[in-house]
Amino acid sequence: MTKMKTDLSAALATGFHMNADKMQMKVCSWNEWDPLRHVIVGRATGCHIPPLEPALDGKVPEDSEMRGRPGLRPQNTIDRANELLDSFAELLRRRGIRVDRPTPIDFSQAVTTPDFSTGSMFGCMPARDILLTVGQEILEATMSYRCRWFEYLCYRPLLQSYWEQDPEFRHESAPKPRLNDADYRRDYLSDRITVQQRLQWTAEKHFVTTEEEPLFDAADILRCGRDLIVQHGFTTNLKGIEWLRRHFPDHRVHAVNFPGDPYPIHIDATFTPLRPGLIMNNPQRRLPDDQRELFSRNGWEIIDAAPPAHNEPPPLCYSSVWLSMNVLVLDPKTVCVEKSEVYQADQLDKLGMEVIEVEFRDAYAFGGGLHCATADVLRDGGCEDYFPKQG
Ligand code: ALA
Repeated sequence: MTKMKTDLSAALATGFHMNADKMQMKVCSWNEWDPLRHVIVGRATGCHIPPLEPALDGKVPEDSEMRGRPGLRPQNTIDRANELLDSFAELLRRRGIRVDRPTPIDFSQAVTTPDFSTGSMFGCMPARDILLTVGQEILEATMSYRCRWFEYLCYRPLLQSYWEQDPEFRHESAPKPRLNDADYRRDYLSDRITVQQRLQWTAEKHFVTTEEEPLFDAADILRCGRDLIVQHGFTTNLKGIEWLRRHFPDHRVHAVNFPGDPYPIHIDATFTPLRPGLIMNNPQRRLPDDQRELFSRNGWEIIDAAPPAHNEPPPLCYSSVWLSMNVLVLDPKTVCVEKSEVYQADQLDKLGMEVIEVEFRDAYAFGGGLHCATADVLRDGGCEDYFPKQG
């Protein structure tokens, strides 16, 4: 009797506690610009350069140092990247934004399924690559690199706690892909592909990934209320886009592609919305005319992004110099920009935004810039229709 009573009191106490938390925690974000209230910021701990695999073969340039260097990244670079990520998290907290962090796992472990095996994992710095927040849902992407197959595990402690606390939160996971050899085009498995050849292939939409099964990375998707703009490229195929269309039946899902990018991976150094009606496009990767119509018809302006401040990405980095435009919009008048990206900062300043400089360049090699390193949990606002004229 006494024990039962104790259990009951404990249950009531827990229930009470849960209710208190429920009032404080909500998952909801419909776009890239409404006021940010709660965000995940990645970590660099334990990050590996994974061994080459078919998808990475298509991405890592032939002359890149990374080709010969799989394994744990140099510890001093990990420590430096973590310092920058921690400072960024602190800066956001000081502005009243709640910040959560993933739980790194041992990335030296091989990734083995019945279909494939690869020597190590990658890391958990770019939260944006994995998690797609659409309204009250956070969707774990299929991913398209073998080394990233288990990366979602780093976010499970957070997603489980959100699920406990927010009764309206929908935690979803897209079907895990097989990622066997049929997913990748064999002609990308060559160390003699010229940039010219790559540009021709990407213009023809002849990408590394095939149409064997749905594949997408979350960072290929821009959320604009009722419309989701999805980059068709190396990491997201047409079946992945079709999967998103069926999964979000109340949304309109638009496939876009950007000729001019020899490595079309993730949309957020190519096409960056700043506020309703205004989007920056990478001038070397312009959206084709026929795909611009949706924007012009609805009064959206597409402007060229300012040039990057650097000629080269930092050492051992997968991304291009265009991480300059990988900015995090905190609200339609406030934007975080990497500190050394003076041209980008100046352009945003002239567009009337408050620019917050964030030192971040030494974290780029771990998976990207300020937008890549984050994933939305809560932004104000609802699901608006920014593109009522669909044509
Ligand atoms: N794939 C993007 C770029 O490097 C992030 O520009």
